[in-house]
Amino acid sequence: MPAAHWEGTGVDEGHDELRVDGGRLRRSLEAMAEIGATPGGGMHRLALSDDDRRARDLLVAWLEELGTRVEVDEMGNIFGRRPGRDDGLPPVMTGSHLDTQPRGGRFDGVLGVMGALEVLRTLHERDVVTERPIVLVDWTNEEGSRFAPAMMASGVWAGALDRDWAWARTDADGFRFGDELARIGYRGPVPCARRPFHAYYELHIEQGPRLEREGRAIGVPRGIVCLHWYDVYIEGTANQVGTTPMEGRNDALVTAAEMVLEVRDLPARMGGGMVATVGELYTHPNSRNVVPGAAHFTVDIRSWDDELALGAWDLLQAEFRAIAARHGCGVRIEETWRVRHNEFAPELVARVRHAAGRLGYSTLDMESGAGHDASYMATVGPAAMVFVPSIGGRSHVEVEETSWEDCEAGANVLLQCVLASAHERDAGAGAG
Ligand code: GLV
Ligand code: MN
Ligand code: MN
Repeated sequence: MPAAHWEGTGVDEGHDELRVDGGRLRRSLEAMAEIGATPGGGMHRLALSDDDRRARDLLVAWLEELGTRVEVDEMGNIFGRRPGRDDGLPPVMTGSHLDTQPRGGRFDGVLGVMGALEVLRTLHERDVVTERPIVLVDWTNEEGSRFAPAMMASGVWAGALDRDWAWARTDADGFRFGDELARIGYRGPVPCARRPFHAYYELHIEQGPRLEREGRAIGVPRGIVCLHWYDVYIEGTANQVGTTPMEGRNDALVTAAEMVLEVRDLPARMGGGMVATVGELYTHPNSRNVVPGAAHFTVDIRSWDDELALGAWDLLQAEFRAIAARHGCGVRIEETWRVRHNEFAPELVARVRHAAGRLGYSTLDMESGAGHDASYMATVGPAAMVFVPSIGGRSHVEVEETSWEDCEAGANVLLQCVLASAHERDAGAGAG
């Protein structure tokens, strides 16, 4: 077997000795981590904020330095295209997102974009010519914490969400997504619509404890669980706390509190590895000496089993209505967003596992409990992800951490997977 041949991967181009520059990857991650840094060592770079604009500007400047052709679409997705030998072939795409959770971490999303940039820089400095073009992508508003839902712009790109509906989404202060996108200068001219791609790879931190616990270097997800988001609005009766008797109150917050416990108990009832969370809760008028007159909270249900999650929601709604009735409160429920569980392309998943093994990294087959743009990408073409360990399994928090060595390892796996796909002339199982 020739040294440069990767059995079963289709790579025979002599590029398997290529490695990313781990120091340069670290420097780009550190530079991005300055934009929206929090005193607690994390990141607060909400979608379409001024810091999101600054991060985008830096990415675009870096892409232009490499001579890539940069395009921005109507949802603000940024694409940096490196030509291939046969530029008419559908490209290999790779990327993630630059927006963060409120007081979130320095690695979620940005690692996948900086990892993709490092792949392009490595190919650029070594003058590597690939058969197919390679497109780096920064997806807008993956987190969905300022503007629900998550994965919004990859959802529009993939045809699952409507552009005008997305533009009309508002944040807690009533700002519209489309207006904010224009304000930061990233409502681009290119239609946000999917185009054929040969493969999509996304490098990401695991965001959970399994890799660390099991002492493995690279996670190989077979797909992503379903995500169901709901908004629940409770209408009670506000009144003076000192003079209103305890009996007969219509306390919207107490009503919500009982519902929150129902959400917490649901996964144990349903089984199947389900998780369910209330992450946001608002009360009105939010004064210590007014019986809460209204409450609003969010529900997030995830499972590999779509039907189980839907069944859980049916049960939960019945419970909510019974609880509201007991407290004499009204309840209104919005089904905000659902994305099915999505499975990655087996041949790309195998390639991730194989590339990691060739590079000497231990691997763990797993599922992703976190949502990623790769979920929508998997609905329209072959997609796969590369996971690296999260220290202490912490993510979406300021202490989110991954070692620089693991970032470099993940980027090297990404490099080899992107190269393998970009050297393929044949469509194979891919979209073209
Ligand atoms: C995306 O960050 C998610 O909610 O999993
Ligand atoms: Mn992410
Ligand atoms: Mn996230």
